[in-house]
Order: sequence, then C-alpha cells, then structure tokens
Amino acid sequence: MGRSRTWLAVACMALACQRAPGQAVLIGMVGSLTGPEAHFGLGTRDGVTLAMEEANAAGGVAGRPLALRAYDAQSKPEEAASAAMRLVLQDKVLLVIGENASSNTLAMAPAMAAAQVPLISPSATNPRVTSEGGPYVFRVCFVDSFQGEAMAAFARRTLKLSRLAVLTDVKSDYSVGLAEVFRRRFLALGGTVVAEESYAKGDSDFRAVLTRMKAKRPDAIFIPGYYSDAGPIARQARELGLESVLLGGDGWDSGGKLAELGGAAVEGAYYSTHFSPDNPAAPVQRFLQAYRARFGRLPDALGALGYDAARVGIAALRATAGVGGAALQAAIAATRDFDGVTGRITLGADRNAVKSAVVVRLVRGEPTFVSEVLP
Ligand code: PHE
Repeated sequence: MGRSRTWLAVACMALACQRAPGQAVLIGMVGSLTGPEAHFGLGTRDGVTLAMEEANAAGGVAGRPLALRAYDAQSKPEEAASAAMRLVLQDKVLLVIGENASSNTLAMAPAMAAAQVPLISPSATNPRVTSEGGPYVFRVCFVDSFQGEAMAAFARRTLKLSRLAVLTDVKSDYSVGLAEVFRRRFLALGGTVVAEESYAKGDSDFRAVLTRMKAKRPDAIFIPGYYSDAGPIARQARELGLESVLLGGDGWDSGGKLAELGGAAVEGAYYSTHFSPDNPAAPVQRFLQAYRARFGRLPDALGALGYDAARVGIAALRATAGVGGAALQAAIAATRDFDGVTGRITLGADRNAVKSAVVVRLVRGEPTFVSEVLP
C-alpha cells in the first residue's frame, strides 16, 4: 500500500472508531490544576465531572457514554495553548471546556478555530475572549464590561466610596480590562481615582506600590487580580496600616482559598462573582446536594460554572446526536433560555451569556451574599 493510501486507511479507521456505537464521546477540558490558579481548574473539573456522570446515568449521547480528557494548563497561557492542540489533534475531542482565565482562553482560541472544535469557557470574562477568539469560542458567563460597571456602581452608590486606588496585574488580560471598566464607571459616577498602580503575576512583594498608595489616602482599593495575588496584597496592605475597603472581581472566587491566604486582612472585603450557594431556587439546591455528595464539599463559582458549561455542551451534543464540528458549533450557538445553576443562559450572536452578578462580602472568612445585580 502506498503511503497516502496507508494514511487514508488510518484516517478512516480513526473515524470509524470515533463514530462506532458504544464508543465514548470525548470531551476535553483545560484548566489550571497546578500553579497559583490551581483552584480554578480543580473546581471546574469537579463541576464538569458531575455533569458528565449525570448525563451518562441518563443514557449518554445517542447511546454512547461521555468520557473526559482533562489537561493541566499549569496557570500558564502557553501550557493552555499546547493542551488545546493535544486535545484537538491527538485525542480528537468533539468539544472543549475551558479555560477559566481569560489570557489562557485567548491562547487556546487559534487551535479551536483551526480544528473547528467548539470551546465553551466557564468563566473567562474579558470581552476579547469571544470577539477575537472566533466563532468556535463561547462562554457561559457574563463579561467584564458588565461586572466592572456593576462593582463600580456598588462601590459608589451603595458603599458611598469616593477616593479610589486601583492595583492591576499587567500580565493578565482579565485584570487590565476589568480595571479599565471599573475606573471609567467610578469616575462617571462622580468618584475620584487617587492612585493607579500595577504589578505582574508572580510578584510577591507589593510593599513599594502599597506605600505609594497609602500616601494618597484612598477609601477603597480595587484589586482586579486573582485570589492568589489578592490574599498577599491584602495582608501587606494591612501590615502597612492601609485600612481602605478592599474590592475585587470574580477572580477572588476560590472556595475559601482567598480567606486562607489573606486571613484577617480580607475580612469585610467585597467582590463580584457568578454564583451564590444562598440561592434558594430548587435546581441550585439540588445541584449543591449532588455536588456535596460527590466531592464532600460545596461548589464555588468555578464548580457551578464548570457544571453549566458542560451541560450546555452536552445538550448541544445531544441535539446533533454526537456529531461535532460546524454542526455542534451551530447547536451551541442556538442555546436559548438554558436553565443553569448560575442563571439562565442564552448565547447571543456574540457567543456570550447575559447574566446577573452577585456581590458577596467575606464575613468570618465566608463569602456572604450582599446583593444581586441584574444585567
Ligand atoms: N474571570 C476570570 C478571567 O477571565 C476567571 C475567573 C472566573 C476566576 C470566575 C474565578 C472565578 O480571567
């Protein structure tokens, strides 16, 4: 057999394998399972696992079971990109759930577009993730233009704060974008920005910037970074005698990790996020029970968003009877009024969901519901 015919035979066999009845439908996941953002990927993986197990118990997709290939992005965009390549080229998954972080998701987008494999991000909130990511990139969460405005309005109108300092992680698309929206809205609502400082992911000594900030006497410091940085920043701020109110975004959501890292320094701090276990709605309470029964703890926003992202993807796989590619892309794009545990999900032409945000406050280390902000 000539070389090209051998390849053809291999390709046909691969296709036959993939489509054979009973053969598992492969779903990929990329998330940080190690590194400073490990908490994001671990929560998401549990949510995705629960959704897949429930779907398998209900007959899978077109009579085939679902199976998961989860890879570790190690909290690095370049690792997220190579995991995406491995999933679409080697494993030939039909769908990818991930990444959590905006920069990592942006790094994966070219691989998804080239292979025409849909990706659903549970939690990447930077607007560019979908606008630049292309037609195969979706998300089941709100975007930072909404979250930043909601949090700025909360800071100005509810907390009546007026002198703002902002501390941005320049290495994170999420942090840079969210800082900008918040700042603009805070100014528009009559507040003043007294300090704008930055750091780069991986820094651990924030004393110089915090000392400069202290001299400007801010009422509030907005820290649109991840919990892994917000915890040490808060600690060092308090050590330096900076008593300002601390504010953050969804990157602080970490199932207790922020309180562990920040200790008393984060007590009383506020942040916006996607999900509150205090929601009494029956589907949310049922999910909480199922998650706790399976993993021995309650989900945070990442667990809930991972569950919703996977369920939206599985519903679309069912609609196409397990066919991927352009058909699956179209089925995901047609998602309307999907009842998620993080809210109702309708994917618009921009492939984003429009959903409420919740503001929580850390009280004795526990995120406690303060208010819901409607889109
Ligand atoms: N929204 C963050 C980003 O885009 C990721 C994140 C979402 C983190 C939800 C925690 C909870 O990078």
